[in-house]
Amino acid sequence: MRRAMILLLACAQLLVCAACAEKKDGKTDKDADATPVRRIGVAIYDYQDSFMALYGDEIVSYFGSLSNESVRYEITVVDSRFDQMVQKKAVEGFIAQGVDAIILNLVTPSSAESIIDRVVSAKIPLVLINREPVGTGEGYPGIVNNPLVCYVGADARQSGTFQGEIIRDLPNHGDVNGDGKVGYLMIEGDVENTDAQYRTQYSVKALTDAGIAVEELDSGIGDWKRERGQEIAAIALARYGDAIEVVFSNNDSMALGAAVSIAGAERTVGKDIYLVGVDALEECVSMVREGTMTGTVRNDYVGQSHKAVDVAIAAMSGEAIENYYWVDYVKITNE
Ligand code: GAL
Repeated sequence: MRRAMILLLACAQLLVCAACAEKKDGKTDKDADATPVRRIGVAIYDYQDSFMALYGDEIVSYFGSLSNESVRYEITVVDSRFDQMVQKKAVEGFIAQGVDAIILNLVTPSSAESIIDRVVSAKIPLVLINREPVGTGEGYPGIVNNPLVCYVGADARQSGTFQGEIIRDLPNHGDVNGDGKVGYLMIEGDVENTDAQYRTQYSVKALTDAGIAVEELDSGIGDWKRERGQEIAAIALARYGDAIEVVFSNNDSMALGAAVSIAGAERTVGKDIYLVGVDALEECVSMVREGTMTGTVRNDYVGQSHKAVDVAIAAMSGEAIENYYWVDYVKITNE
């Protein structure tokens, strides 16, 4: 039986992975050596990010599952450590090595143009994932003008809307104290990030569109990190107390941190406060099931990573690819 074998070699800045097919009985090393190899460079913006670590690992394991006697995929994964310079060097390294495709999770989407230009000049297919560079008009110029470049992601407006709808659909619509408006804390991802901006905007819009009055009592930038979510929630709960009825968190990691502060402030989710996140990390899905989190929204890293890999393979094989590929979010509540 064929089984994917993943070799993980970690060194100072690089995480190097080779995904290759295990040899069948009777095959010699020489046979394996004859298998054509495709090399793919993957750069993740920050492997400390729980969601992107799952996403990056899934890219490697899916490539591994697709390796067979006719093609073997060798994957190099770089952790850009939230540093655009580290990522720039990684991409230059991929180009110098002559990889067959690059899958890129940008550190700073505003630097997309120059990085895309380099990869396009080297005629290497480029699949951008998760951190979407947004231009004005119909798509980002570096994506729509280059047939070998595409973006695979999920429309963050949908995730924000789903968060707001989860609160809207509660019997009291989030108005715990019955004063006619929903007082909320917004815990945001990183600045200059479309997912953070859209989730912040659309979660609240789902309430106001339904005619529900809202009041933002506090907000903070948590950089998608659990400990920052905890800090931001602790400060807001100490400052505004019971007036905070809903905590919107742009992702689950920060919501997990907020849950700690909510418990620390002797508040009870589902009773006197509501908490919603995005990603559907396993821990959060369990919390939603048991009622310690009000809801989350599945950010389908399996669907997105498989699409990114499939598109990279299509482009490496000379097939035409589209500019944008979208994967749906899914609302998760305990109903
Ligand atoms: C979002 C995800 C966050 C974080 C972020 C990184 O889509 O919900 O948890 O991973 O991407 O840009």
